[in-house]
Order: sequence, then C-alpha cells, then structure tokens
Amino acid sequence: MLQQALRVSGRSAFPLVKWMERWAESTTAAEGGKTKGQTVRTLDEMPGPSVVSCAWDLFAKRGLSRLHELQLEGLQKYGSMWKARFGHILTVHVADPELIEQVLRQEGHHPMRSELSSWKDYRKVRGHHYGLLTSEGQEWQTVRSLLGKHMLPPKAVEAYDKTLNSVVSDLITKLRLSRTSQGLVPDISQEFYRFGLEGISSVLFESRIGCLDEVVPEETERFIQSINTMFVKTLLTMAMPSWLHHLFPKPLKVFCQCWDYLFDFAKGHIDQRLQAEAEKVSCGEKVEGRYLTYYLSQTGVPMKTVYSNITELLLAGVDTISSTLSWSLYELSRHSEVQASLRDEVLSVMGGRRIPVAADVARMPLLKAIVKEVLRLYPVIPANARVIANKDITIGGYQIPKNTLITLCQYATSRDPAVFQNPDKFQPHRWLSKDPTYHPYASLPFGVGKRSCIGRRIAELELYLALTRILLEFDVKPDPKGISVKPMTRTLLVPENVISLQFIDR
Ligand code: HEM
Repeated sequence: MLQQALRVSGRSAFPLVKWMERWAESTTAAEGGKTKGQTVRTLDEMPGPSVVSCAWDLFAKRGLSRLHELQLEGLQKYGSMWKARFGHILTVHVADPELIEQVLRQEGHHPMRSELSSWKDYRKVRGHHYGLLTSEGQEWQTVRSLLGKHMLPPKAVEAYDKTLNSVVSDLITKLRLSRTSQGLVPDISQEFYRFGLEGISSVLFESRIGCLDEVVPEETERFIQSINTMFVKTLLTMAMPSWLHHLFPKPLKVFCQCWDYLFDFAKGHIDQRLQAEAEKVSCGEKVEGRYLTYYLSQTGVPMKTVYSNITELLLAGVDTISSTLSWSLYELSRHSEVQASLRDEVLSVMGGRRIPVAADVARMPLLKAIVKEVLRLYPVIPANARVIANKDITIGGYQIPKNTLITLCQYATSRDPAVFQNPDKFQPHRWLSKDPTYHPYASLPFGVGKRSCIGRRIAELELYLALTRILLEFDVKPDPKGISVKPMTRTLLVPENVISLQFIDR
C-alpha cells in the first residue's frame, strides 16, 4: 500500500518521494525476506565490483582522484549498498541517507572512523601520540571533552571573531596585492591556503605567523606543500598492499617525510609560544591567553598529546577552509544574481559598518544557505567512515560483521537526483524553504554526533566573516578566459584545476 501510494505521488518527482520509494522497496525486500523465513543477507550476497575491477579502477583509471565519482557509479550500478576492495581493505559502501543514519545511530560511546589508517601507523612508528583525528576510545574522549569546551559552545567560538577579523583584513589586502591589472587573482586556492593556515594559527597560538605577508615565510610554504603531498600519498599508501611498499618504497617514504615536517612545524610554534608565556610568568606578569594551545597545555595532558593534537588541528584548518572558500566564490562569481542578493543581505544587516562580528553573521540566512549548498556540492570530506568494533549490525537487510570498514558515501547522497532535485545545480535557496523535504542525513559535510567535526563552528565563523568582507570590498567575477572546474579527490575534495577570479573594487 505504502509503496503504491508513494508511486502515485512520486510522479510529482519530489526528491523526498523518490527517495522514500527506493527506501520502501529496499526495506520491504529485506523485511519481506525475513517474514518468509529467509535470514538477513550476508556480505557474500552483497553486490559489488570484483577485486580485479576495483584494482583496475583505482590504479589504471585514475580512480584515486575519482573516488567521489566512483561513489555515484556504485550507486547507479548496485543501489544503496555495495562492497568493494580498496587495496587490501574490504569496505561496505552505504549511499542512502536513511541507511547512513542507521549506521551512525549504532556507533556507540567512542565512535571509530577507521582502524586502518596510514596516519595511525606513522604515529606508532615515530612514537608520537595520537590527536583527535586519529585517537580512539578513552584517549579520544578525554581530549575531545577538553577541547570541546573551547571549540563547541557558540559563546566560546564567537570570542574568536576579533582574532579572525584581523586575519580577514590581511586577506583582503593580499587579494588586492595579488591582482593583475585586470583585477584577476590567479589561483585563488593558493591565497586561501595561506588564509586558512593563518586563521587556524591565530586561534591556536593567538599570534600571527606571517602567511599573508607580502613575502611568505619559507617554512609556511613548506608546511602547506607538506599537507598537500601528504594528502595525495595518504590514499596511495593505504591502497598499496605491504608487498608493494617493499617494491616501491618511495610513496611511504615521502608520506612520512611530510608528516615529520608537519609535526616539527607545530612543535616549533608551540614551544615558542609556551616559552614566551613562561618568561612572562617568571617576570611576575599575568598570563591571559585565550588560545587553544594554552588551554590544552594547562590541563595536565602530556606534552606529546599537546603536540599531536595541535598538529592535527593545524592540518584540519587549511585545506578545508581553502577549498570551501574557493568553491563559494567560484559559484558566486558564476551566479551574479545570488551574489547580489547576498550583498543586499550583508548591507542590510551591517547598516553601514564595514567589519562584521559573530552576532551579525548569525543574522544572515542566505549566507548560511550558500555555504551549506557549497558543502553539499563539494563536501570537503567526500566519504566519511565508521568501524563498529563491538557488535555486528544489520543495515539495509545485510549483516555487517563487527570491525568492517563502512564507507558513508556523502558525495553520492549529496548528488543523488532521488534525494536532491537538480543535484548538480547551485541553488542555495533550497535550504531556505520553510518546509524542507530533505532527509537530515542527506548532506552531512561536518558529520554528526559525538565524533563530528570539532572545528565546525570555528570554520563556519571564519568562512562567514571572510565571505561577508570580500563581498563588501569586491564584485567577484569569473576569469574571462576561465573554464568550468570540477572537483577531484585528494583524500579531501579539492578543485581539479586552478580557479582564477576577478576581484573588482566596489
Ligand atoms: C569547511 C570546513 C570543514 C569541514 C567541511 C570539516 C569536516 C569534517 C568532517 C566530515 C569530519 C569527520 C566527522 C565524523 O567523523 O563524523 C571532521 C572531523 C574533524 N575536524 Fe573538521 N571540517 C572542517 C574544518 C575544520 C577545522 C577548521 C578544524 C580545526 C579547527 C577541524 C577539525 C576537525 C577535527 C579535529 C576532527 C576530528 C574530530 C574527532 O574525531 O573527534 N575541522 N571535520
């Protein structure tokens, strides 16, 4: 009955209805199977490409940089669940909002993203501690609670607006300096990497490290380069079986060298900052630091834990911000009517002021909808993951044994026409409807629940402050010679080609 009713109304082609129809079919199949005495299906019965075809896709068809597209191909070929091999790792792909919700609701007290990360192996080999991205269990919980106090409550995050605004001011100056005579800034992502690193450093150290200076310090460029290369090598080193590492040791060697530099860079800045603080204290001066490194170093956790966490936070704040800001301005430059509406919103909230504060951006619904839409189209983390370590679970009629790597296909759900109407179109107004029809797990760019992005509020504030100021200062236009740019996977989802845009003074 339900299915029939849905089919009739499904002709209205609402994504929610289409999606419910598909969901009803899959659950009816699974539940019907049970009432007829059949058992829940096993992984052996799950569809998916053969081992050879996976290896061919990954290594011969540039699959590593097309992993996000492979999600959509998988969804089309096999439906909402399929299994595939990533190198020697078997993973179950889930590409349906309802089923993703079922996985995340069973993640337990100490959710685990992936047990098999090359990031963890590196830390083990070098004797580093784990940071929030890589730790598990009680070790993760302890630091999550400590940092959460300063990174999650809206009031705590709003307090960073002054610090971040001063970084945005430098970004505006830097954009002006980088322009050609036609107002073109070539390769905006380069500028935004530096902005991302300076922004997160200002929050972590409450001091500036010069990424937006006219001459960028060499160590900063090397840090950014090390992040880029480390991300490229992450997927490759994970996909390669260990015997292949013996034959071709270079990728792993380069991967480790990049991490060495990331840890060294962070340690250098932490030591320098804490040393300056200690000197003040010894002179009887009062220390009033409100920066995260200081808070964490005062909690009594070992210094090695401070180093690893700050390294991971620094890393997490660079590409995520750069990529989202680049795509936001790319889309706004191609949709001048949306850009004009956003500018109207900004001007009306700001009432003549030029520098927004956190309370201002909180009153800009279109701005928020634009960032949400950008992250739907270009989710920085195109696939999230979970490992349920303590029990087998049943998802979509399949029994998933404990410790199986489950890939949550965010890119596929975000671009699935059964979930979002016109999924490839930039339509921020879809998020402003009073009656949203989307499943709440259809687009989860920051994840959800206990293990979701701890930097979400800082990232959003940084993006909102930067976009507001850029639109107050400039009309942003596409490169007259520009081509459309597609995303590619480099562990994170980033622009495949250089994005250049015109920033015309207003
Ligand atoms: C647009 C910007 C960003 C996006 C889209 C994003 C997205 C994500 C996602 C999807 C996760 C995984 C969540 C999960 O497993 O459920 C994550 C985790 C994390 N993010 Fe972000 N992130 C962004 C910016 C940042 C920034 C600026 C920071 C640092 C201040 C940060 C720090 C972290 C950390 C430490 C984790 C691991 C949390 C944990 O395991 O407890 N992120 N992020």
